Parts: sequence; structure tokens; C-alpha cells
Amino acid sequence: MNALPDAWLAEDPLPVEPVPIVERWLAEAFEDPAQDSPHAVALATVDADGRPSVRMVLCNAIDSRRGAFTMYTNRESRKGRAIAHEPRAALAFRWPARQVRVEGQVEWTPDADCDAYFATRPLEARLGAWACRQSEPVASRAVLVEALAAMAERFDAREESDVVPRPPHWGGFTLVADVVELWVSRRGRIHDRAVWRREQEGGSWSITRLQP
Ligand SMILES: Cc1cc2nc3c(=O)[nH]c(=O)nc-3n(C[C@H](O)[C@H](O)[C@H](O)COP(=O)(O)O)c2cc1C
Repeated sequence: MNALPDAWLAEDPLPVEPVPIVERWLAEAFEDPAQDSPHAVALATVDADGRPSVRMVLCNAIDSRRGAFTMYTNRESRKGRAIAHEPRAALAFRWPARQVRVEGQVEWTPDADCDAYFATRPLEARLGAWACRQSEPVASRAVLVEALAAMAERFDAREESDVVPRPPHWGGFTLVADVVELWVSRRGRIHDRAVWRREQEGGSWSITRLQP
């Protein structure tokens, strides 16, 4: 970990670009063996009834040039349906002494990119994507185990191979940030906290230091 994690937001003026800081913090979290899935984020969506919901997902990629965060899921899941109706979301990372909050528009990942990422997943995960109708009720665990076995048979996938394609319902989505808030724990609870806002992708960020 960075020897001086507190120093990040201590100085004014603040850095003009927030997302490279997030990228750096994530890289540091990955270097810390005590961190379990440091790329896990709490992802909040709102459904067609205006009901908010939140769940953990893995943030698989950060594009600091675009200010964009990519995650993968079943697009017919509860979150997938919420995003299809309301393509805006928020996410939060949490690492020791640090928090990142992001808000923005969501766009679906192009099929070719989804295919490429799906192909890197372990065989069981690829079969599971076919076997599981995420967020739907299931009568028992045995039903799921059977569904997985049926998919292994269907694709004759007893060994690691390329025979399991990406199911059409499985794919990525990218949250393109228009708000990024960074928080760093400091002594005496006078934490450093600042928010970066922009009107549109590629636009410059306006920066506001906030009271903690
Ligand atoms: C650490 C962690 C990482 C997870 N990563 C993912 C993920 O990358 N994609 C995903 O669809 N679900 C992931 N899940 C499961 C989700 O939290 C959630 O249970 C699932 O996506 C269904 O959510 P939904 O019904 O709101 O769509 C993860 C759970 C945990 C605890």
C-alpha cells in the first residue's frame, strides 16, 4: 500500500481528473494481500417503480480516459432489468481509509467485447452463465446443480475448451461517470472529501471540496 495514503486529497487545488486516482487506488488495493476482491463495488440501480436496490458486483475494468467503469452480469437479472428501464446507476468502492462514489449513465458493452471477456472466464463460470437465470426463483439447489450438469452435457464441456459461447443474456455494462466523489480518512475525523462533476463525457470536471 502507499506509504502516505492520507496525502492524496490533502492539497489544494485538487487534481483535475478523479478517475486516474481511482485506478491507482484500485491497483494499490490489489497489491494488499489482506484485500478480498478489491474490485468489488456496491452497485445501486432504480427499477421501473422507482425502487432503489443495491448489490455487490465486480468492476472488471476502469477506463480512466473515458471515466468509465465496466461490470458483467445477466442482463435479464433484477439489476439488468432495472438498467434497461433506467440507464443510470451509482457505485461505491470501499478500501481501508478510502471510499469512491460514482454516478452516471449506463451503456451496454458491445457484443464483441462481451465475447472476448466471456472467453477468458473459467469453464464452470461459462456453463453457470447458461445454467442460471439470475434473480429468478428456483425450487431447490438440486435444480441448479442439475441445470449445470445439463449444460456441461449440452456443450460436451468436460474439459476446458472453447465450445461454450457467451449466452445472449450475459454481458457487460459500463457506467460512464458524471459524478465522482473521493473520500480519504484523516485524523480527528477531518476527512478529505471532494466531488468532481461534469456535464458530459469528455467535458472538464468541476471540483468541489466537501465537508466530511
Ligand atoms: C463480492 C461479490 C461479487 C459479485 N460479483 C458479481 C458480478 O460481477 N456480477 C453479478 O452479476 N453478480 C455478482 N455478485 C452477485 C450479486 O451481488 C447479486 O447477488 C446478483 O448479481 C443478483 O443481483 P440482482 O438480483 O440485483 O440482479 C457478486 C456478489 C459478491 C458478494
